[in-house]
Amino acid sequence: MLHGEVQVPGAKNSVLKLMAATLLAEGEFRLTNVPNIADVRTMCELLEALGMSTQRLDAHELLLINTGNITPIAPFELVDRIRASINLLGPLLGKYGHVDIAMPGGDDFGSRPIDLHVAGLEAMGAIFDLTRDGVKATATHLHGAQITLKFPSVGATENILMAAVLADGVTVIDNAAREPEIGDLCNMLNNMGANIAGVGTAKLTITGVTPSTLHAVTHEVVNDRVQAATYIAAVAVTGGDVFVRGARAEHMEMLLNRYAEMGVSITPQSDGLRVVATDRLRSIDFATLPYPGIATDYKPLLVGMLSIASGTGIATENLYPGRFRYVDELQKLGADIRIDGHHAVIRGVEQLVGASVNAPDIRAGAALVVAGLVASGETVINDTHHIDRGYDDLVGKLAALGGLVTRRS
Ligand code: UD1
Repeated sequence: MLHGEVQVPGAKNSVLKLMAATLLAEGEFRLTNVPNIADVRTMCELLEALGMSTQRLDAHELLLINTGNITPIAPFELVDRIRASINLLGPLLGKYGHVDIAMPGGDDFGSRPIDLHVAGLEAMGAIFDLTRDGVKATATHLHGAQITLKFPSVGATENILMAAVLADGVTVIDNAAREPEIGDLCNMLNNMGANIAGVGTAKLTITGVTPSTLHAVTHEVVNDRVQAATYIAAVAVTGGDVFVRGARAEHMEMLLNRYAEMGVSITPQSDGLRVVATDRLRSIDFATLPYPGIATDYKPLLVGMLSIASGTGIATENLYPGRFRYVDELQKLGADIRIDGHHAVIRGVEQLVGASVNAPDIRAGAALVVAGLVASGETVINDTHHIDRGYDDLVGKLAALGGLVTRRS
């Protein structure tokens, strides 16, 4: 049983993009509510390699200084570590007219193409030279364009948006991704002096401004809905009563409805959600979809919860067909899961049993920690560096709630 209160930190999938956006204007940026995670440290190294300077003012505050002395060539070793390095493409092209980066790494969910990023930026006048290993692009004159994304890609929306801020004329992104982290980026860009209309909708209209219009700002990073979902999942499987401070119901409405159907009681209170779980969870079927649908990042948590729910549930993955690699690990804990194409059929078992498992990526790693809390005996999770990329002291926070979890190294 978990009891007490946990604070949700700022979102990884927002802060990394906000950091990339600091390339667009000279001056001193201050980011607050920054999660203390490995990917932020990598992004700092990347920005420093490009010519910026960065400084942690405290565990959750970051100072980024852009003196305008930027070399738009990103080193392979750093780009390979995080997916969000692809977010350098838009601002570097928009502001410096040139970019040379390796193909980004990050979580391996199978193929992660960038064709939508490239097509959008090409429509604005960029010229690409794509090889197996990297991306080079130049843009002597970026201009506005009407871009309809064939899929509401988060990364493509962000790159086109950041390039369009300084482009000549008006860019319209139709079928844009609507994740709260994109709203956060738009808000920061607008405070910097950009002109973006339609924030939070699927149609973003960006009117280009001159470089001298943009200036550095102080910005508070939006809270991490996936970390919030993780703590709710932990209470759901172990039982208990926890206040998840900083969880924003309006950013995770669809997920909260599904949690409720599974039997978790979630009550919005000022600045957070009270989560109470007393009974065995009930199975549901769910499918991942772009926001406001159930995020693919929530899926490992839900599959873990279904592993011990009463009845049978079906999880359908619509974004990354390869994103089921953690299922083998849940099976080692005794879960009864069968994969059929992009569906997983999960027959709930009464009890998971501790074993040694490997964290294949950030969210799957967190889901294994949650499953380990409720498995009988000892669960050892290896490759925890994946979890550290996106979670701000997951172990310490769960332990403070009464979870029996410790860090070995
Ligand atoms: C971001 C998140 C990731 C999350 C994902 C979906 C970051 C750093 N990562 O990743 O945690 O799981 O959103 O919510 O913010 N696609 C294409 N062509 C493209 C781009 C994407 O076909 O040019 C496809 C992808 O293969 C995938 C789908 O679109 O099937 C979604 O990808 P996208 O929204 O771009 O995800 P990311 O920005 O990479």
